[in-house]
Amino acid sequence: MVHLPPMQPAPPLIDPARMMPFADPLPLPEVARPVGKRLNPSRKAQVPFYRIPIQEFFSKIHRDLAPTRFWGYGNSVPGPTIEARGGEEILIEWPNQLPAKHFLPIDHNLMGAEKGRPESRTVVHVHGARVPPESDGWPEDAYAPGKSTTYHYPNTQDAALLWYHDHAMGINRLNICAGMAGLYVIRDAFEDALNLPRGAYEIPLVFMDRMIRTDGQIYYPVSMFPDAPWIPEYTGNATLINGRLLPYLDVQPRKYRFRVLNASNSRFYFLSLGNGQPFQQIGTDQGLLAAPVTVPRLSVAPGERADIVVDFAEHRGQHVLLNNLFAPLMQFRVAPEAVADPSALPPVLRTIPPVAATDALRTRQLTLEEVDNVLGDPLVHLLDGKHWHEPVSEKPALGTTEIWELLNLTDDTHPIHLHLVRFRILDRRPIDVDARIYDKKVVYIGDAVPPEPNEAGWKDTVRATPGASTRIIVKFEAYTGRYVWHCHILEHEDNEMMRPYEVVAPPRI
Ligand code: C2O
Ligand code: CU
Ligand code: CU
Repeated sequence: MVHLPPMQPAPPLIDPARMMPFADPLPLPEVARPVGKRLNPSRKAQVPFYRIPIQEFFSKIHRDLAPTRFWGYGNSVPGPTIEARGGEEILIEWPNQLPAKHFLPIDHNLMGAEKGRPESRTVVHVHGARVPPESDGWPEDAYAPGKSTTYHYPNTQDAALLWYHDHAMGINRLNICAGMAGLYVIRDAFEDALNLPRGAYEIPLVFMDRMIRTDGQIYYPVSMFPDAPWIPEYTGNATLINGRLLPYLDVQPRKYRFRVLNASNSRFYFLSLGNGQPFQQIGTDQGLLAAPVTVPRLSVAPGERADIVVDFAEHRGQHVLLNNLFAPLMQFRVAPEAVADPSALPPVLRTIPPVAATDALRTRQLTLEEVDNVLGDPLVHLLDGKHWHEPVSEKPALGTTEIWELLNLTDDTHPIHLHLVRFRILDRRPIDVDARIYDKKVVYIGDAVPPEPNEAGWKDTVRATPGASTRIIVKFEAYTGRYVWHCHILEHEDNEMMRPYEVVAPPRI
């Protein structure tokens, strides 16, 4: 990946290859329960009201390690899962009950992380949710311990796996690394009718890698420059699945639905099964695909989700590994006796309209840039050459469709996420990077490639590949107001690779 600048030497870290593998069962996050009902913002209805405190707790990531300090939601990482129904609104209060001092290293040079601000401020964003701007978790609205906020989630969108996480400006990478992430599932009658594996046969798999010290605690490195501790990427020696290192899961010889989320700061996963069996991918960030896609190796970038079905029927009594590249991450233990499997994997899932570039009112060409120091170490990452605090430049009108052409001038893939909306990928096409940098011209040097079959559904996060144009087509619907778009590599996002955008009222005709 990127050229990494020198970092302060790390303290002794665990060696996962020497840990007892598959010693712990895969934990399943609890389902959140409403604590009552409250009047919704329009004062028309009493709706379910949840209260999820953000706090410090200790949790074991492996049988043989001391409990790890986390900052998260409720008392688990991932936090309690919110189960919502399409069209049924809810309210969630998110009290900040964190200790005053952060336990990971803040870089006070970063936007929003200036000295003097409360260190453990936080604000919650539901990734992929169509919400009014005042409930979206504006990064500058992060609040201090002792404060609280109540957000309104209308859930007027298709069934999908969303996730909630911290979005505090300048310390987002640290807060999420500390454990601030959880799942938010939207279901609906349409999806129910497909009879996909459900209940005990629908399992979330949340991937987060961490640097883990021998004392079981999270380590977050700092650069060699004491005044500028920010590092351009964070990848851990230990990959946690649902907060556990090298877990196992007992399964029946039948179909399972796995809801995969990459909640890592920077790491991309390339998942496969040790027995060579491919995954059947049925959904992506914003819900079901048109039809299942056979995927032997599943790539998931930070922020992305994949909905997959695995049938263990042919593997009675076997142990099946889940690998990232060649490293095992977890083990499925398939029971020996055959069982009935009433669930379905329908050959057709839903109608996804074809993408029509002609629907777009305009195209915005937006660069992804990395600014380096003289040593070639990344200093800052920018969207369209602009910093966070520059005036809002992207102001799509409500109800209109636009093409955003992401011109990646860097050597890395950046997973780009837009709040509020869902979009489709049009294509990727190699460009002459120097022509864009020096002559400000977009020169294509290859053919446009359509998205992979398993990216051809509704997305909210797209891998913008290096030296290429990645075009997405977006309809700006539902709300006007300020939102953000950013790279989901959290180290980039925290260091200027995030910009506001504003959905404005349509011009009057
Ligand atoms: Cu996962 Cu700004 O979002
Ligand atoms: Cu988001
Ligand atoms: Cu990035």
